Formats: sequence, structure tokens, C-alpha cells
Amino acid sequence: GSVDKCPFTSNVAGGGTRNTSWWPNNLKLDILRQNSVAANPLDKDFDYAEAFKTLDYAALKKDIAALMTDSKDWWPADFGHYGGLMIRMAWHSAGTYRVFDGRGGGGAGQQRFEPLNSWPDNGNLDKARRLLWPIKQKYGNKISWSDLILLTGNVALETMGFKTFGFGAGRPDTWQADESVYWGSEHSMFPEGNETRYSKALKGVNEKGALGSDYSKDTDLKNRELEEPLAASHMGLIYVNPTGPDGNPDPVAAAHDIRTTFGRMGMNDEETAALIVGGHAFGKTHGAAPDSNCGPEPAAAGIEHQGLGWINKHASGKGADAITSGLEVIWTETPTKWGNGFLESLYNNEWELEKSPAGAPQFVAKNAGEVIPDPFDPNKKRKPTMLTTDLSMRFDPAYEKITRRWLTNLPELEDAFARAWFKLLHRDMGPIDRYLGPEVPKEELIWQDPVPKVDHPLVDEKDIATLKETVLSAGIEPSRLIAVAWGSASSFRNSDKRGGANGARIRLDPMNKWAANNPDELHKVLNALEKVQQKFNSEASGGKKISLADLIVLAGTAAVEKGARDAGHNVVVPFTPGRTDASQEQTEVSSIAFLEPKVDGFRNYGKSTARGRAEEHLVDKAQTLSLTPPEMTVLVGGLRALNANHGTSQHGVLTKRPGVLTNDFFVNLLDMETQWVDAGSDGELWKGIDRKTGSEKWTATRVDLVFGSHAELRAIAEVYGQVDGQGKLVKDFVAAWDKVMMLDRFDLKKNDKFV
Ligand code: HEM
Repeated sequence: GSVDKCPFTSNVAGGGTRNTSWWPNNLKLDILRQNSVAANPLDKDFDYAEAFKTLDYAALKKDIAALMTDSKDWWPADFGHYGGLMIRMAWHSAGTYRVFDGRGGGGAGQQRFEPLNSWPDNGNLDKARRLLWPIKQKYGNKISWSDLILLTGNVALETMGFKTFGFGAGRPDTWQADESVYWGSEHSMFPEGNETRYSKALKGVNEKGALGSDYSKDTDLKNRELEEPLAASHMGLIYVNPTGPDGNPDPVAAAHDIRTTFGRMGMNDEETAALIVGGHAFGKTHGAAPDSNCGPEPAAAGIEHQGLGWINKHASGKGADAITSGLEVIWTETPTKWGNGFLESLYNNEWELEKSPAGAPQFVAKNAGEVIPDPFDPNKKRKPTMLTTDLSMRFDPAYEKITRRWLTNLPELEDAFARAWFKLLHRDMGPIDRYLGPEVPKEELIWQDPVPKVDHPLVDEKDIATLKETVLSAGIEPSRLIAVAWGSASSFRNSDKRGGANGARIRLDPMNKWAANNPDELHKVLNALEKVQQKFNSEASGGKKISLADLIVLAGTAAVEKGARDAGHNVVVPFTPGRTDASQEQTEVSSIAFLEPKVDGFRNYGKSTARGRAEEHLVDKAQTLSLTPPEMTVLVGGLRALNANHGTSQHGVLTKRPGVLTNDFFVNLLDMETQWVDAGSDGELWKGIDRKTGSEKWTATRVDLVFGSHAELRAIAEVYGQVDGQGKLVKDFVAAWDKVMMLDRFDLKKNDKFV
């Protein structure tokens, strides 16, 4: 597919030349309006966790298992078993996850929607999902598509003799494509275009397959860096090109790309090798003929195909004639049975480059016998074959070290694959509190960001009132209590449900070192709060305790209340105790590091980057906090009034009463008596000048001024800047503040609230 195809222009239902065509650089707020109630066909009070409780899980698993060998004529099962296809479906669902922003992954069932349903790499997975439809239909809303797709991969493994690590359900469905994910900027999908997202393309296909050549000494490879935050090597692929980097069938070079792409999926070398070796113990690849035989992908196929794509005109178009990747490889002698056949074949054979019937480079075992079964003809046998990227597991020295060990130690491979597969499927689930069902493993896993269980009575209303007074008189500016509470809670990202105030990880490495958290100031605030905590805990009766995680939020909340009080509003800002404090040992420093905000417009921290303008970063951050445009607006305006900027910077603090929760930010931003003039040279800072006197009143950044310049944001800003805006600002700010503080409280089983 390519975006340059001649479009048919309609003049109804949103057709015609759009704002995004006229002003492509305008800030877009659409990603803040996704998954609205209006788009959801389920009842307003539908609670997936509750519905799942009524599911007969064992019966569902039995039906999925039976499906594996119930071959349908419209899409016959290779070797009479859909296991390979279903593992690939689950793997491709989860494998889009990337660490940088936590987006992608199987947690929202996005494989059903564009672009993923039509990616070349997801070829014929439309059939896999359609095979599942009768089961989805039978169990209805008790099982989501997101869960069903991943669970089916698990059951596939089990039916072929592999013991999995477990399964956690609990992924509510979404009803539209997630537009927040940056998939790349190329205009064509793999393998059509030669556009690359790498800083360096690999030149010149090495026809010999370059076994033994050493690309790792090659500067082309050393400087080959993948654009952030992408995790796949091409537009339209989940991970890497199976024929090697840019089509160079060089296993050593391919290892470089595998390490990068799987690393960005959150996998280390051992996990990566386990996944590839374990996954390719099953099934086959499909390349009976060139893919010019195939029709368009689902999103571009005729309406009569009902969401199916890649209609194949070669012979029967299915079964033995199937075309998916264009590669024709069968890895083991037992493609529907777990075992160490992949590594045995990899190491016991020598490999030479060949072409698949579709013309793609792949490897065949030299001088080997025909020992590999045919998927449909019991009388035929084939020679062992491998993909370029499979050979990486042997010819890359680091992968070799790992896989040679497993060659003679199957139980170790089994443990590594079971754990890596479980991590793959659950990487974007967030805290263990979200996991549902009878197969949730008991073992605490570091990548789940575990927090201790509450093992003491919690504070009551009276304690909360007392603690609020104590923290406000602990010698810390209220605005700094707000800044720290914000830093703690806003580390949450809805994309993979990581971060947040629970655990109080803001006091641990690496969060306590983040520049956005202003380490010196943070240290001071935490010291003061720890003293309050110790005093309370030592004096409280009946073993009652408050965690630091709770106290951080409570202190910010008390400061917000004070700000409202000083503005004449006696409001109670909600506070729900129950957070606990994680230890450093429970904290995976290397992966928490990915949560670091490089830019945070809510704190007026950072500025535009090569990736986007400051206001785009603000919207992106707001999306990971699952905020709506009004929530984002009121939070920025309120936080500025409360003087909560990073490092008490005064940019955007458009008030004469900093620290008071007023609507001054909006009133003064929209004041026609102020003229904004450039204060620097880099388009990041402006001065607000009094038109009459010429005196400087304010300074403001892009994320401040955007609320006056962007038409839709200005429309919201006006609501808060009007005569009736003050009371509304306080009410809405308190609600949005509470929402952010509570985003990670999955212990309260709020997991269905924000998708
Ligand atoms: C099939 C590539 C990793 C599981 C395939 C196919 C390709 C491919 C090209 C053939 C698709 C077709 O033509 O039908 C790769 C590459 C990988 C990788 C380049 C990484 C370097 C994995 C992982 C898993 C996995 C991590 C699972 C843990 C499977 C399975 C099939 C398959 C089960 C067989 C599908 C069937 O029988 O229909 N892979 N794969 N692969 N892959 Fe992978």
C-alpha cells in the first residue's frame, strides 16, 4: 500500500478538503477525544471486569482448543492445526508495544483496526481473527477481543504441548483506531518503498548471503540508528525484515536490527532469543507464489470481501497455495508439537541462500535429507529451511552463547520462553491488580512494577484533616507540594498503565534524579514529608499508618484546597488513601527510565524538540494521562495560577496572586490590552506588554500562548475566562486533579474507567 494512490473524493460524510489539508501543521486535539462514551456501543455502566467474572473460562479455553484442529475449507489449517497461525496472531498483537511511549501492544485489541489490520506484516491474520469470530460470538461481552486474541495464542501453545507461565485477562476493548501512535513518516508500506527510518540504510544486497561476513565491523551498521520512538524496522512491519536489513540476507547484520527492535519492545538478548527460538518451533511461513497474486489489504479491499484482504488468485488461493510473507520455510520436523527442533536444525545443518517460490531470499540446509513434513501432502517431504533472522540466533556471538546453551538444555529454554512470552502478552497491562482470571501467576515479576500490599489500617477522615494541616505547616511552599504531587502522579501513562503515584517511586532511582522533578527541591519536600509521616505513624493508634505515596498526594491535595480557599472557595478535594511504598529492589531502573518526561507543559518544563513542538508534547502527555481537551486546559490554567511550574519559573503565571486558584491565567491571556512580543530568538518565549504603558506584565511559553492562539483551545479558555468562569475553574480543576492523582489506582478495580 502507498498513500499516494489516487483517492475518490466524496462530498458527504466528512469528504472534501479538510482542515488537516489546508493547515497540516495546526495542533490536532483529536487524540484527546478518542474512546469517548459516544463511540462505545456497550452500555454506559458496562464493566468488563464484572462481565468477565461471569465467564466460564474453562469452557472458553476448551472451545479455543477445539478450534485448533477444526480445519475450515475456506482457510484450511496447515498440518491440520491452526496453532502456528494463532501464535503469530497473538505475537503480532502484542509485539507492537514500544518502551518509549508505552503505546502499541495487545492491550486494546488494535489489530482489528487500521492500520494494523492491513499491515503487510499482518497478512492473513484477518483469517485468524475470523476463525475466532464464532467463539467471540458465543461468549459475547464476557470476553473482549483484546483478551481473546492473546488468550488464543496461549491456548495454541498449550494444545501443542508447551506449558505456559499463565494468563491474565482484563483488557477492555476499544472501538476505533488509536491515532496517538506514531508509526513512522514513510509514505509506503513494506516492502514497496525504500524509505528508511534508520539513520543509515544498508547498501547493496550481498547475494552470497554473507555468511561469515562481519557487518558488525561495518560503519554502516554501527551508525544505523532507528528513529525514536519507533520499534519496528519498516512501516508495516511489527519488528524486523525477515530477509535481513533492507533485504540484505546477512544474519549478523540482521542481529543488529533484531537487538534494536526487540530491545524497544522491552526485551533483552535472552528474552529475544527465547521468543524467536520458541515461536519458530511451530508452524510455517507462506510463499507459494509471488505476492503480485494477492489483492489489496483489508482496508482497501472490495466491500464484498467483508473486511478480508489479500485475496489470492494463485491456484486455490489457500492451503498449499497460500501467500503471506512470500517466504516458504518450515522450521522443524514437528511443526505442531513443542520441542527443540528449531535449535537442532539450526545447529546441525549448514545453510545456503536460496529463493522462495515467491522470489524472496531464505536459507536451505546444505546436503540435508528431506525430513520436514509437507503441510497438506503426507507423502511429501522437504529440506530444512530458515529465515535470515533465524540464522542470527546462531551467527551473532551474543545470541549464539545463549542458544547453544539451550540446544542441550530444553528445560532452560522452556522456562525462558514461557517467561518471555508471558511478558510479551502482559507488558502493557500495568499493575497486577488489573489481571483477571484463574491463571494469573503468583510470582512477582519486576517488569510489573510491583508495590507492596496494604498491611495496616488506613487513615480516616479525621486523620486526613489533621495531616492536611500538618503538611501545610511543614515549612514547604504549597506550590512545591503541588509540584511534587504532580510529578509523582503524572508519571503515569495510560498507554501501558505504568508509573503513577502508587509506590512513591518518585523517591527512588531513577525518578528522583529526573530533571523534570527538580531533584534538589524534591529532596527537600520529601524530607519534610517523611518527618510528618514518621511522626504520624509513631503516634497513630491501632497500627494505623500513612504511606509516603499517600502523603505525597495528600500534601498536594491540601495545597490545592488552600489555593481554592484563598480564592474564596471552600472545597474539599477528594483524597483516597491506600497507596503503598515500593522498594528500590522492586523497581526496574532501566525500564522506569523510559517514563521520564523530557517535556512537560503542565509544569512549563522543557520546550520544542526535534520530535515536535512544545504544545504537541503537551497534547501527547495529556493523552497518556487520558485527559480531554477541557481537562488539559483547566489543569494548565489552574497549575499556572497555583504557581506550580518547574523550578518556580514565572512563565505563564499570569496572575498577581500566585498560589491562589483563580481563573486569572485565562482572564489575562485573553486580555486585549496585552500584546505578546518575542522575548527570545527561538520561538519559545514571549513577553506580554501593556499596550498603553509599554511595560512588561508577563512572560509566556508556547504551551501558555497556545490556549489563546489555537481556535479550539481558545474556545475552551474563554469558558474559564468569562465572568462565570471562576467557580467552574475551581470545580473542574479539582475534578481533573483528582483524576490524575487516581489514574493508577487499579487496586480499586477502576480498570475499566479509562481505556
Ligand atoms: C511465522 C518472521 C519472531 C512466531 C513467521 C513468518 C515470518 C516470520 C516471515 C511467516 C508468515 C507467513 O508467511 O505466514 C519472524 C521474524 C521474527 C519472528 C523476522 C523476529 C526476528 C517470532 C516470534 C514468535 C513468532 C517472537 C512468537 C513467539 C511465529 C509463528 C509463525 C511465524 C508461530 C508461524 C505462523 C503460521 O504457522 O502460520 N515469522 N518471526 N515469530 N512466526 Fe515469526
